[in-house]
Amino acid sequence: MNRDNTISLIKRLVQRIDTNTTDEAPDMMTESVADFLSPQRFSRERQQFFLDSPQVIGFAGEVKEPGSYITTETMGIPIVVTRDSDGQLRAFINACAHRGAKVAHGCGNKQRFTCKFHGWTYSLNGELYGRPQDACFDKADKYCGLKPLPVSDISGLIVIGLNPDMPQAVVDNHLADIQDQFVGFGFHEMYSLETRRFEVKANWKIIAALSYESYHFATLHRDSVAQWLRPNAVYDTFNNKHSRWSFAMKGTEKLKDKDTAEWPDAVPGAVSHALFPGTVVITNPEDAQIIRTEPGNSVGTSIVYYTGVCRHKEKMEASRAAYDFGGQAFEQEDLPAAIECQQGLTTGRDTIYIGKNEPVVQFWHRQWRERLRNE
Ligand code: FES
Ligand SMILES: [Fe+2]
Repeated sequence: MNRDNTISLIKRLVQRIDTNTTDEAPDMMTESVADFLSPQRFSRERQQFFLDSPQVIGFAGEVKEPGSYITTETMGIPIVVTRDSDGQLRAFINACAHRGAKVAHGCGNKQRFTCKFHGWTYSLNGELYGRPQDACFDKADKYCGLKPLPVSDISGLIVIGLNPDMPQAVVDNHLADIQDQFVGFGFHEMYSLETRRFEVKANWKIIAALSYESYHFATLHRDSVAQWLRPNAVYDTFNNKHSRWSFAMKGTEKLKDKDTAEWPDAVPGAVSHALFPGTVVITNPEDAQIIRTEPGNSVGTSIVYYTGVCRHKEKMEASRAAYDFGGQAFEQEDLPAAIECQQGLTTGRDTIYIGKNEPVVQFWHRQWRERLRNE
């Protein structure tokens, strides 16, 4: 975010804190409980929103150097993302051409990937480099490379398409409406901390919406998040596809007594970018996190990844503490609430209520519904 945008965002936050208000939607809305329980809706969402739409899976800084790589799974598909020796970002299905075992594990830096099953070895560009007892196989090596996936890090975030036939332009343009807001965050330069994975018994939309409102700070997070963050939030949407929701640290209101020239270069708090369909990129002055939620195998299950990176290597310890703090509140407070909600929604209720004070939750529920209808 450039300085002018940062200053204008801080001004809006200071004004909200000053009046102890929050950006609101014009009206309350309701949503059908069936949206969280219907296997038909779930299977359409899986296909349209996740398998047929680009997914944000990490920060470009996680694969900075030539030879660096990360592995993950998206919708049950094993993925390896790597920076080849020419600096080109590449993504592949992490499955060996011989019989399908994973060729890369964890993350790190390598010149080649060697499958541990029978030793087939691949270059960073995905081509088969060599294999034991090569004479026992036909020479059609071009069919023996790793399967490439479209991938882009134009915005500083790693975006992939899970369908190898997805046009590169679709992946390149996925964040076009919001990526200007990422300028200056330095996503390409950030350092990896950790990624955690959770299997959660709740519909993916309930989990995504945990990161879309501050209404619950004073209650669910009374002893954690609410100790240092104000619930007064401002929100923006970007071409009806992505949203941004910002809230400030306690004490930010004191900035109103200072000249804006003395204000900081980053919003003193958290700026939470919600990216279609359900990934949240949270930026803080020193670090950033991604919460990526995707549907599990059934309508009431999800897989969640929580990734942390930091801006300055020398401040890694403090960033790690912030990552752990956020992770603990998420795992011990947010996720159990989501599981309870899923269970409670199966008891015969037919409606949920989304208040005026939850405009981002409203935005996403509307968008998910309308996109399914239109596609
Ligand atoms: S499965 Fe990879 S070498 Fe056999
Ligand atoms: Fe929360």
